[in-house]
Amino acid sequence: MAVDYFAIRPGMALHGETRVPGDKSISHRSVMFGALADGVTHIRDWLPAGDTEASLATIRALGVEVERHGPTELTVHGGALKQPSGPLDLVNAGTGIRLLAGIMVGQPFPSVLDGSEQLRRRPMKRIIEPLTQMGANIHGENDRAPLTIESAHLHGIRYELPVASAQVKSAVLLAGLFAEGETVVVEPGPGRDHTELMLKAMGVDLAVDGSTVTLRPGQPLRPMDFTVPGDFSSAAFLIVAALLIPGSDITLTNISINPTRTGLLDVLREMGADIAVEETGLQAGDPVGTIRVRHSALRAVDVGGEVVVRMIDEFPIFMVAALAAEGTTTVRDAGELRVKETDRLAVMTAELTKLGAQIEEQADGFMLVGPQTLHGAPVDGHDDHRIAMSLVVAGLCADGDTVVNDARCASDSFPGYAETLAKLGADVAVRAVEVG
Ligand code: S3P
Repeated sequence: MAVDYFAIRPGMALHGETRVPGDKSISHRSVMFGALADGVTHIRDWLPAGDTEASLATIRALGVEVERHGPTELTVHGGALKQPSGPLDLVNAGTGIRLLAGIMVGQPFPSVLDGSEQLRRRPMKRIIEPLTQMGANIHGENDRAPLTIESAHLHGIRYELPVASAQVKSAVLLAGLFAEGETVVVEPGPGRDHTELMLKAMGVDLAVDGSTVTLRPGQPLRPMDFTVPGDFSSAAFLIVAALLIPGSDITLTNISINPTRTGLLDVLREMGADIAVEETGLQAGDPVGTIRVRHSALRAVDVGGEVVVRMIDEFPIFMVAALAAEGTTTVRDAGELRVKETDRLAVMTAELTKLGAQIEEQADGFMLVGPQTLHGAPVDGHDDHRIAMSLVVAGLCADGDTVVNDARCASDSFPGYAETLAKLGADVAVRAVEVG
């Protein structure tokens, strides 16, 4: 069996202009919502990555015809979903399983939603609870996948999210499409709003008032043409790499700059980062723009409160940035990181420690004093795309060479990650070894 790894040599500045692949959150939603729409939805610049391909495969298993015109262009023939012939496999996709659960509880047939061993470890009580309150018949094994769903009559509820989670908000709103009466979701913080933007654009009667979202069921979803913007969460690795590597100056085009996603930009600017953003238009409801990043000396910062949910996927790469900053950086209110693809607080602390970092892991965050010098070493991606990609950036800033094992998982969200970095001038390559 061949095993892929990233081979990294530091020392090269990053220069030039690039795009990044389509936004993962929007790509998942575009195929699912397109499947529910009455008619034909065209999607351009869709993300052809591990997680989104899993969502696409389940949509096809639900009897929806999806034409593929190359890796990033799809035509979805929406309409009624059909009973699948077996369990639906969402592989590693947390967004895929939680959003799809919201849809499946409203269907007139049973289904089973499952995934990889990694996905089976992730908490599902957070969706089982509100969906059950809506009348859904959904059960997990110890509140985890596989999820078994029977058809049931749903009614709208008012639900105050106990955790700031866009996946939970979306699952409840999607079930609300099939419920009798109004569904109201109240968020504790400004979680990503792609579901609201997209459903509204498709003609759903949905009102947003501060942190309260109200959905009235009844109207069919209008099919749409989507062009998916570049994923800010993918851009984040390139942004931090350019900030940390002396002499770098890069420009990223066509990136979603939806403010519910760009908390990292606010924090990096507070740290003294030289980042210029120019808004260039709107795509799939999201503002998009060009981001120019130049190498900068960073100062430490305290992160907590409302910004945490707006940068929730960026903490692994933020930890790398914090190691380069002058002074004591603290992160709190980020306990959600423990239930992502991996326990990202524990795993990042352990892997960066192998590169010589000193980080104090805390229950809902971490503390570290910088700047720290990293030393190249073999580290592990733990089948978690954002861990693997963050460690590549750490390797680019270290003394000596680094190997990040488990390169394959990067393509769960960022196919072509090493190639994109290499195009900007970094010495990064994906290699394979035969094992076993
Ligand atoms: C996502 C929501 C977030 C995020 C995930 C994508 C989404 O998860 O971490 O990568 O597309 O709705 P939570 O809802 O668990 O915070």
